[in-house]
Amino acid sequence: MNEKLLEVKNLKLYFKLEEDQSIVKAVDDVSFDVYEGETLGIVGESGSGKSVTTMAIMGLVPMPPGFIDGGEIIFDNKDLLTSSKEETRKIRGNDISVIFQEPMTSLNPVLTIGDQLTEVLFYHQKLNKRDAKAKAIDMLEKVGIVDPERIFSGYPHNLSGGQRQRVVIAMALLCDPKLLIADEPTTALDVTIQAEILKLLNDIKKEFKTSTIFITHDLGVIAEMADRVVVMYQGKVMEVASIQDLFDNPLHPYTLGLMKSMPNIEEDSDVLYSMPDKIGHPIAVKTSNGYTLLEGEYHGTDTVIIKHANRELRVHLQDRSAEKKEDSNV
Ligand SMILES: Nc1ncnc2c1ncn2[C@@H]1O[C@H](COP(=O)(O)OP(=O)(O)O)[C@@H](O)[C@H]1O
Ligand SMILES: [Mg+2]
Repeated sequence: MNEKLLEVKNLKLYFKLEEDQSIVKAVDDVSFDVYEGETLGIVGESGSGKSVTTMAIMGLVPMPPGFIDGGEIIFDNKDLLTSSKEETRKIRGNDISVIFQEPMTSLNPVLTIGDQLTEVLFYHQKLNKRDAKAKAIDMLEKVGIVDPERIFSGYPHNLSGGQRQRVVIAMALLCDPKLLIADEPTTALDVTIQAEILKLLNDIKKEFKTSTIFITHDLGVIAEMADRVVVMYQGKVMEVASIQDLFDNPLHPYTLGLMKSMPNIEEDSDVLYSMPDKIGHPIAVKTSNGYTLLEGEYHGTDTVIIKHANRELRVHLQDRSAEKKEDSNV
């Protein structure tokens, strides 16, 4: 396997709510690795902690109310959580860039596209004006903008949603990042535009070979984009598997539930499957010899991690669904 580029280790990112001082465990002991050249998918329903994980990597979590209760985020042998601002500033936005769901989050409505693209190059790569413009136009072409000169001089409001997301992708790629994080990059777009942007991201993956974390709530999208997948639920990792293993042989009941809740165009049903409140535990791993309960590594008091070949299953013995219900009653 290739070298590890990013290691998230036992990350705990909590929020302390002001109104009742209660703690939301948005990311609760999450670990995963990203290897060079791969696309790691993170899938899970809304609220499972996907975006806050991204924000922790990018140093964008508002603190307070957020706080880190433990863990490490290792990139380039540095822990981004404890390194100096100076060190992490060079990494974030240069070595690691991010594409958010809503392109307007990343674009400034009062600046031209050209100003925004070249600013990145002035700041991180110290290019002069002419070289920066040439590089920006070239990148706009690479992301499928047909008239890059015109778009370069225009403003975000002159663009369609799909074009805006292409511009954001261009901006993210300008500094040749080692890691690209795409957080639901197509969720806000129409279905046809969504397909075009996914195709673009796949083409980029082939051309630039950038390691990518691809985040979505949509298993169908993950199937098209990822090499390996982390399944998250309520701030925890449920299982980690290659894309093929995950679809051929999902092991965690939560993953199975996610698969059942995918709309199936071949099945004529008005009723969509909805996830039960209480998710069961995986009790065994299917192997070529049948079902085996593999040796687990005990981790804290409430989670058992089962590792086998390239797969990882996490058994969270503490049932958190009761906790959640109580929260919603207050
Ligand atoms: N600023 C915040 N204050 C309090 N809770 C937050 C804040 N931001 C996120 N959360 C909580 O963190 C959890 C995970 O959110 P998020 O990462 O956005 O989920 P996802 O991206 O998987 O849909 C949610 O329960 C959300 O309410
Ligand atoms: Mg999100």
